[in-house]
Amino acid sequence: MKIHFLTPFPKMVDSIVSESILGRGQSKGYVNYNIHNLFDYADEPHCRIDDYPFGGGSGMVMKPEPVFRAFEEVKKSLDDKKSLRVIYPTPDGKVLTQPLAQELSVTDQLVFINGHYKGIDQRIRENIVTDEISIGDYVLTGGELASAVILDSVIRLIPGVLNNKESADTDSFSHPLLDGPHYTRPEVYNGMETPKILLSGHHQKIDEWVNEQRENKTRERRPDLWKKYISSKGKDGVKNG
Ligand code: ADE
Repeated sequence: MKIHFLTPFPKMVDSIVSESILGRGQSKGYVNYNIHNLFDYADEPHCRIDDYPFGGGSGMVMKPEPVFRAFEEVKKSLDDKKSLRVIYPTPDGKVLTQPLAQELSVTDQLVFINGHYKGIDQRIRENIVTDEISIGDYVLTGGELASAVILDSVIRLIPGVLNNKESADTDSFSHPLLDGPHYTRPEVYNGMETPKILLSGHHQKIDEWVNEQRENKTRERRPDLWKKYISSKGKDGVKNG
């Protein structure tokens, strides 16, 4: 997967994609990151990438020229025959979900346009962007962290990026229930014990216990997911209550 970032803060993006599993995705050859500094595409001598909004109002808007020019440059290295999604992270986009992450994970080429200030000129959204995505109902100062969240959710789904131990199959949202508790050595830490059932070696009982924990957590924290789960299972929702 080829991934391009258009950003006024290239160092910020670089620090995110060069570490941990995102970094490993590139060193293992599954993904290739390309970071483009929007200031390099701004007009001299002031190299401004933002300007006052037409019609008034507070805040600055990111100008169209640097983004259109940077995208033209990116297009030179894109393959027309391969799939492409151009993502603009924004609080007024559609909310990121696991199915959307899965859909993006089978795309050949991704471009992230990182906005700042009040956002980007509408003409960029209408002519370049294919996906406006929100990571939740709150507002960040810029698109880079939201891009990182979207990217992380996508890269870990590319087969081979995670090893078996890190498998994504049992995650919350890859399953109708939220994930349950996890324990590792030592068995007792400062008097805090691991539930005995997990040490019993009785796999069926362990599975039942883990499922019950997942059900309880989902019922308490996410009534929306619980409702879907019980209607798909024909459960009464009272069993563990
Ligand atoms: N940019 C600023 N806030 C955002 C959010 N909640 N989601 C995506 N992009 C954003």
